[in-house]
Amino acid sequence: MTEVPQHVTIIMDGNGRWARKQGKQRLFGHKEGVESVRACLEFAVEKGIRYLSVFAFSEENWNRPEEEVSGLMALMFKSVLNEEKTFMRNNVRFRVIGDVSRLKPDLLRVIRGLEERTAANTGTTLIVMLSYSGKWDITQAAQRYAQDALAAQREAREPAPLTEENFATYLSTAGIPDPDLMIRTSGEQRISNYMLWQCAYTEFYYTDVLWPDFRKNEFARALEAFSTRDRRYGKIK
Ligand code: IPE
Ligand code: IPE
Ligand code: MG
Repeated sequence: MTEVPQHVTIIMDGNGRWARKQGKQRLFGHKEGVESVRACLEFAVEKGIRYLSVFAFSEENWNRPEEEVSGLMALMFKSVLNEEKTFMRNNVRFRVIGDVSRLKPDLLRVIRGLEERTAANTGTTLIVMLSYSGKWDITQAAQRYAQDALAAQREAREPAPLTEENFATYLSTAGIPDPDLMIRTSGEQRISNYMLWQCAYTEFYYTDVLWPDFRKNEFARALEAFSTRDRRYGKIK
């Protein structure tokens, strides 16, 4: 393998179908999915991937039945409490990105706590995209830019010009390089309102494997595929 991507992002899909195949409740699939996150994180650390982001819960997922939403949030809460040792051992920085104003205060508190305690870790950054959507991200960025521009106007200062570069600093992913590789499991081939701005030049990799079955070997296969891609960025090579 030649080139290791700097940022890999994963749309972790297929937990419900995985559970159904075993004759179990959907939440059973989500629980098994947490194991896949751990396995993929360990693999990312091994490979020296700087950023691993995972789509854990979309804005649209709030429209699922209450029971599933609360089950997923409880699982998130438990995982945040449980995984600190893994993060510390692997020098992993933990971050959560999304519209966290929709989260319960106790969940947000444990998330912020773990973010602070891992902030000085210098290895792989694990970014959990929670209550996230691409359109939300672009909209909140536009709102915050407008607020800054209005404030500048009020103070008779020149507002910063709205360049692509400047706009990206208002996105929730500011400071994080755009994903080089996006993996989606479970056979679906769509973006589902994920990092719309950030995936402008991302390589996409789709697999039929359901997320709870996606472990190191599958991740290695995706990296292998990535290493054969020819990234031209509109130029001629
Ligand atoms: C992905 O698995 C996890 C979340 C979206 C929270 P799904 O829950 O979407 O599983 P399927 O697609 O129904 O199989
Ligand atoms: C996308 O999966 C969101 C996450 C993986 C968190 P969904 O299962 O919600 O997406 P759709 O509804 O099939 O597009
Ligand atoms: Mg799904």
